[in-house]
Amino acid sequence: MDITVYTLHTNEDGDRDADADVVSTQGPFTVTKLPHEAFDGQWERLVYEEPTGELLLRAFSRAIREFHNNSSSLAQSAWSNTALFHGPPGSGKTSLALALAQQLSVRLSIIYPHTKLLRVDSSSVFSHMYGETPKAIGSLFTTIGRLAVETEGEEGPSLIIVLVDEIDKLVPSRKRLGGHNEPQDTIRAAPEVFTGLDRLRESVNVIWFFTTNLVEDLDPAFIDRCRFMEEVKTPAANCVFEMLRADINARIRRGRIAFKTLVYGHHCDTIMTDAPKDLPQCSEQPHEIPSLVWATRYWPSTATTAVTVLRQIATLAAGLSGRMLRGLLDVAIFQYLVDDKPDLRQVLDALELVVRKEITQRSRKALDSTMTDEILPSSITDDFDFEFVGNLPIETNQYSDDE
Ligand SMILES: Nc1ncnc2c1ncn2[C@@H]1O[C@H](COP(=O)(O)OP(=O)(O)OP(=O)(O)O)[C@@H](O)[C@H]1O
Ligand SMILES: [Mg+2]
Repeated sequence: MDITVYTLHTNEDGDRDADADVVSTQGPFTVTKLPHEAFDGQWERLVYEEPTGELLLRAFSRAIREFHNNSSSLAQSAWSNTALFHGPPGSGKTSLALALAQQLSVRLSIIYPHTKLLRVDSSSVFSHMYGETPKAIGSLFTTIGRLAVETEGEEGPSLIIVLVDEIDKLVPSRKRLGGHNEPQDTIRAAPEVFTGLDRLRESVNVIWFFTTNLVEDLDPAFIDRCRFMEEVKTPAANCVFEMLRADINARIRRGRIAFKTLVYGHHCDTIMTDAPKDLPQCSEQPHEIPSLVWATRYWPSTATTAVTVLRQIATLAAGLSGRMLRGLLDVAIFQYLVDDKPDLRQVLDALELVVRKEITQRSRKALDSTMTDEILPSSITDDFDFEFVGNLPIETNQYSDDE
């Protein structure tokens, strides 16, 4: 087993000098030293249906190790350190690329003790250098090439990981652009990118991550240069369950959510103060919402538990973006609950309310239909222990306490 010990860089020094952890903003990109505390734990927090991240981590670290030892063989091979992440907004493309960069910086630290993350701002390549975009792109690649050979003391060159978000801005399909009064800059940007990538293909220590929401708008010649093309999908129900469970459990651990029991009974509206004698079969009571596997093993399938309630919510929420899901718990607590340390059952009810509201609003928007007087499906409000003041639900007891 390989064990790697590493120190996280921080932002404490700001960007005052070249040795600071966030080194600088160099034109259209920023440089950050990895592994960085800003991305600590991000890998573990991301939940995807497919093991895309793990497979890419393995592929890149193996390839880079192999070609580092025998760099001439890279010239002959068809390999390039490039991956394109595409998918809907908020599906976690940038987060996955950043988490992967962090993991690679640790895994490859034996051969590259220093890693620099370069984040390229596609828009600023255009906006700052309008009329000179091809030249700006050319010099961007020249700078990256220079950083790739720069040595850090006696430890040799760094691992350079370049992340370009919204790559569609730089390499739009020329076929699509053709004929429309597109500025020459836009048309001439893509070939510059291709030349730059081809020029640096044999730099084994340079990894390229690209993201886009608009894969169908990309120039095929660019897609052809991406060794990996990975679709990042909106989380499915089981991923939503894990994301929400992680967020809730983090709050339970911080003492921000309380609960007497995680087993509610056989009906959603019966809260049991003590778990029945035959429940759970496991002598250890979980201190937070357990995994589905644990719940299936130790709680009877007929019981209504925090797990079954959260699963229902997750099934409803499947289809919402990762970005949206990450903020749902905060919305539920801050908007609908007044207690500083609310009970888990109330949190789950509020979460369901928020999810249903979000879905209703989205489907309304999609259908472009007019507002009906039924703002929320009655099935939610029936089960919900709130009185509505306007359309803002206030927990009845808390409301009178506050008065
Ligand atoms: N699958 C996921 N698991 C956990 N968190 C996620 C997931 N997808 C998105 N997120 C969270 O949602 C937020 C937005 O993610 P991110 O910026 O990576 O999305 P994106 O696909 O790059 O969006 P855009 O297309 O708008 O740039 C981040 O805080 C991220 O941690
Ligand atoms: Mg992004």
